[in-house]
Amino acid sequence: MPDVDDLKEAKNYAADIPQKSQAFFLKGSGSLDWGMQNRLARIFSPESGRTVMLAIDHGYFQGPTTGLERVDLTILPLVPYADTLMLTRGILRTIIPSATPKSIVLRVSGGTSILKELSDEGLAVDIEESIRLNVCAMAVQVFIGGEHERESILNMTNMVNLGTRYGIPTLAVTAVGKDMVRDARYFRLAARICAELGAHYIKTYYVEKGFETVCASCPVPIVMAGGKKMPELEALTMAFRAVQEGAAGVDMGRNIFQSDAPTAMVQAVRAVVHKNESPAKAFDLYQSLKNQGKR
Ligand code: R5P
Repeated sequence: MPDVDDLKEAKNYAADIPQKSQAFFLKGSGSLDWGMQNRLARIFSPESGRTVMLAIDHGYFQGPTTGLERVDLTILPLVPYADTLMLTRGILRTIIPSATPKSIVLRVSGGTSILKELSDEGLAVDIEESIRLNVCAMAVQVFIGGEHERESILNMTNMVNLGTRYGIPTLAVTAVGKDMVRDARYFRLAARICAELGAHYIKTYYVEKGFETVCASCPVPIVMAGGKKMPELEALTMAFRAVQEGAAGVDMGRNIFQSDAPTAMVQAVRAVVHKNESPAKAFDLYQSLKNQGKR
């Protein structure tokens, strides 16, 4: 029984100090519930407003991708330098220590392989699984203009509906088919459709011309996809431009884990994203960490 005999009368009401309300730092996310905001604040740094997501979910449609043959050996050393891991439940359960302090973005769409039409996806993970795994967001591929455009959009909206019940955000990943034009006009269309239909943040590729219009016309944060491997300086330059032009960070895979020195590269990307480091200085950092033997 609580000790109620000698209760002191509370008197420290500070009635002259109004309680402060803090605006949530992330674009378009101010009206979300506490749990949603808390999860987003574990993906995006409240200090910089940005994120370095490490995408290692490639296996869900293309099997053991170069650099991901042994996630335990090649990816675990990179984890301390990422804000978030984007991956499948299979790799999460089998390889990633459950004591990790890192936030998890779970790939929840799937059902196709590189041997067939990639846009023919469904939802491959229950909402209960995302709750059990304590994830901070769920990632769904959206194929605007693709063969299965409608189904992929509805996969995303279904996940938004389910996630909203439990306070879990949905990341819409805009996927570009082989024959489709990758330009600002396309990504404005794709990102805006996803945001209008409820996605909490959007992943798109970078485009040289007009990327700032993609970010400006999207009411929620955009993270830049990495794409195929390119020389480190080019990848750092692309990441730099993306964040300077309005992206709230990056979701990069191959340009980190297929680098000659992945541990050095992820730290260089971090400097660009969180410290606004110039591509040249970030590349110097990459070189010097690489020369110190930090692969
Ligand atoms: C998109 O299709 C998937 O999430 C990919 O597995 C991931 O985005 C690829 O990352 P990156 O293009 O940077 O290797």
